[in-house]
Amino acid sequence: MPDSSFCVVAMDGGAASGKSSTAKLVAARSHFLHVDTGAHYRALTAAALSKGLGPEEGDALDQFLETVELETAINGHDGLIRLNGRIPSKAEIRAENVNAAVSRFAALPAVRACVKTYQQEQEAVARAAGFRGLVMDGRDIGTVIFPHADLKVFLVADPAERAARRARDGQNDTISDRDHLDSTRDTAPLQAAADAVVIDNSHLSLEEVVERITTLLRERGF
Ligand code: DC
Repeated sequence: MPDSSFCVVAMDGGAASGKSSTAKLVAARSHFLHVDTGAHYRALTAAALSKGLGPEEGDALDQFLETVELETAINGHDGLIRLNGRIPSKAEIRAENVNAAVSRFAALPAVRACVKTYQQEQEAVARAAGFRGLVMDGRDIGTVIFPHADLKVFLVADPAERAARRARDGQNDTISDRDHLDSTRDTAPLQAAADAVVIDNSHLSLEEVVERITTLLRERGF
């Protein structure tokens, strides 16, 4: 039986598959904390790049990662990453140099190790702050971070629809290149957990996707 007092939802999928928008709405409807783990890799990438460190930097990058302290600032239903005392802005973590480099940083075991425990701790953060659950979106949440999540959702959408969403967001990075790198890396690649519910949202509204997830939660006793 699930611990019906608290629910963990793992929401994985490729770039622009609608994870964050869906997770945000699920969080608001169900009074869950939403944590976007793409922002964690983006924040680390932005911080490393600002120190002149690229993903091939080896020892210098490892030394930098050792200095990193991560905390969470709660803003409404969002758990925002605070890196060495500062919450990086959306503009910083969505900058073109970050878009271009983040998948190469995220493929590094040292970078993934730097955020793994922090991400797992978000369940305790959400519980302590009085939320009824945690919805975390990313690439490896159902496979690595919360393999025992109460519900795992894997979102997919047509490439053309995803490119159109990206363009509407004013971003023009090549999501297919990032997805290829994210799916083929050795450590925690992008893949659906065996017990994930796959939802193709190409022709569904955000409302319809959230309604499906709400139904899945109800079926699981939440
Ligand atoms: O969700 P996003 O597009 O903001 O994620 C940015 C990058 O971070 C993405 O290309 C892969 C990486 N990422 C990851 O490797 N694992 C996660 N759990 C979340 C993101």
